[in-house]
Amino acid sequence: MPKTLSKLLSSTFFFLSTLLFFSIKLASAKPHGFSNSLSPKHLGLKRQKLSHLHFYFHDVVSGRNPTAIRVASAALTNKSEAGFGTVVMVDDPLTATPDRNSKLVGKAQGIYASAAQDVVGLLMVMNLAFVEGKYNGSALSLLGRNTVFSTVREMPIVGGSGLFRFSRGYAQAKTHTFNIKTGDAVVEYNVYVLHY
Ligand SMILES: *[C@@H]1O[C@H](CO)[C@@H](O)[C@H](O)[C@H]1NC(C)=O
Ligand SMILES: *[C@@H]1O[C@H](CO)[C@@H](O)[C@H](O)[C@H]1NC(C)=O
Repeated sequence: MPKTLSKLLSSTFFFLSTLLFFSIKLASAKPHGFSNSLSPKHLGLKRQKLSHLHFYFHDVVSGRNPTAIRVASAALTNKSEAGFGTVVMVDDPLTATPDRNSKLVGKAQGIYASAAQDVVGLLMVMNLAFVEGKYNGSALSLLGRNTVFSTVREMPIVGGSGLFRFSRGYAQAKTHTFNIKTGDAVVEYNVYVLHY
């Protein structure tokens, strides 16, 4: 008899806890009506992969067709050796080789601004908008610090769109050539990103 009673009690307990579990689950499924949790499969996200992109960034500040133009500066900017306060808008070509006329793979579109007083340290905020191959139409968002006179500068990739949705990673920039007369620069980029 006690055995049957304990069996009955335990199955009642099981039933009630199951009920409780599902009612909690139902309640958490639609807390406010504007959000819900999804399985990554819902967006077709399977295995995360690591991609490496290699290209050259052309920062052309001189001549008749500059791709980087100063849009703002402070009254004290020209007193600062680091150009502190300069804001430059860029639409810089990204090419497959250091040759400006080699295959265009994308554009770096955004802003760099001189954000340091002791060294030339740029705040880089730009989208790497690709136009070549399967990445045509996809973009990566870069946000980081660029001390342009360091050999290799590392900047985070904070996100992306298209094939680069859910991206994160980093870019390493290394000056290939810098023309001290004109200020034009060619910079080699190696970008490593995790995405789906
Ligand atoms: C700095 O800028 C101010 C204001 O535009 C100008 O009057 C001054 O000549 C500039 N100084 C130098 C060294 O270019
Ligand atoms: C990239 O996509 C655009 C818009 O769909 C298209 O016009 C262009 O030809 C494509 N470029 C390459 C290299 O496939």
